[in-house]
Amino acid sequence: MTELSKELIVKFLIKRNILPIPSILEQIKQIKTVDELEEFVKKNRNVENGVDNSDLTIKEGRVEVISSYEEHVKKREISDFITHYNNRFKTLSTILRSRDLDNLTSIRRLADMKNEDVSIIGMIWEKGETKNGHIMLELEDRTGKIKVLISKNKSDLFEIGRNLVFDEVIAVSGRMNKDGDLLFANDLIYPDIPMGKILKKSQEEGSVVFTSDLHIGSKYFYAKEFESFINWINSNKKVKYLVIAGDVVEGVGIFPGQEKEVSCATLTEQFTLLKLYLEKISKKIKIIICPGNHDGVRLAEPQPPFNPKYIKEIKDMPNVILVSSPSIVNIDKTENFEGFNILLYHGFSLPYYGDKVPEIREQGGLEKTDLVMKYFLQRRHLAPSHGSTQFIPDIRKDFLLIEKVPDFFVTGHVHKIIIGEYRGVTLLNTSAWVKETEYQSRFGLKPDNCRAIIIDLKTRDLKILNFLKEENSNSTNQEEIKIE
Ligand SMILES: [Fe+2]
Repeated sequence: MTELSKELIVKFLIKRNILPIPSILEQIKQIKTVDELEEFVKKNRNVENGVDNSDLTIKEGRVEVISSYEEHVKKREISDFITHYNNRFKTLSTILRSRDLDNLTSIRRLADMKNEDVSIIGMIWEKGETKNGHIMLELEDRTGKIKVLISKNKSDLFEIGRNLVFDEVIAVSGRMNKDGDLLFANDLIYPDIPMGKILKKSQEEGSVVFTSDLHIGSKYFYAKEFESFINWINSNKKVKYLVIAGDVVEGVGIFPGQEKEVSCATLTEQFTLLKLYLEKISKKIKIIICPGNHDGVRLAEPQPPFNPKYIKEIKDMPNVILVSSPSIVNIDKTENFEGFNILLYHGFSLPYYGDKVPEIREQGGLEKTDLVMKYFLQRRHLAPSHGSTQFIPDIRKDFLLIEKVPDFFVTGHVHKIIIGEYRGVTLLNTSAWVKETEYQSRFGLKPDNCRAIIIDLKTRDLKILNFLKEENSNSTNQEEIKIE
């Protein structure tokens, strides 16, 4: 056993740009003094962390950032919130107007439309239950408010009604009462994404790998397994893109007592460690990364890309693309192929909807992240209810709107592998590389650790790879689960 503490050795190596991977730590197990450690570092300074698959015959990946938030420094005022909600309403009502809505009118005019069939578009201001068990909504547009009754006797409609949340924008078709102050709903329509989306396939060979929640810098980070993952990704010639959906580092001050659970105490050290891992990945692989709630950027969404003070060297890596959460990137575009659009969102609002939407809660809540993602696509928004996530209003546009329909919608945060599909959009919640966290146990979730999702872009075959090593074993149980 060395007399130097593991923490000291790890710090020492990171400062000298040497990745403290298990194989290196194994080599220095017998070192007892700082001088011996210096000697070891000198000898290993030229160790090449990067790997270059020079015989790669696959065409190089292409990434275009379609939408990524850039911080807009401005003192926020009440009027900014109003503008923010007005902008959101305008975008969602434009989507809803493209649907077949008979006698569409503004709420102000309803008072004159007694006993008439009408359609309106509004934001849900209130939601409650009448004493007879019907749902009573209050909808608002820019001209006024109106009460909308959803009868418990219309079971399909009632089912949609009970899953509506505050502030979402919907269209309602129905009949006005004789006094012109209540609308009896016959149809409830979400903005939704169109049906009939064709599953795109690339003309070139290549694949994309999705993962998230590395939590580098945590004592419980699966270093050996992550090393195996990097070795695998470098040896797989087809991989052109790696997408990481946030929580790349463990962060500091995220929860009480976290300082006892980190192997690197500062964000600078944690991001240096991340850089060393990224440098080990083949330069031919384009790495797209958005932040999560552990990554030292503001919690309020949209979260801008990583703080420049921690990632200067990562930013300079030509194969690394840093984007915001949420963001949209396009990959694999050619002259004859429009490429795939990926919506990246770390997923801070996922727990709220897993818990608050009855239909999702009853089917497993956060365990069914794919249902929450479907819910967002139907609402065309990543956090429709005020208060479901922290956000900073932006008068330019609401960055949490889903304006462009993606081909892949990827989230993290939940530390579970969940695959789904909705109207041609592939829904992916990705795995984590850290042992069960306090957050996980709070939600009673068992994490699926050390998995990666690989999708062949030419065939759209999807596989889950498992890099979790068996207890007391060095071998990786790298099973491949093919999802049809
Ligand atoms: Fe996480």
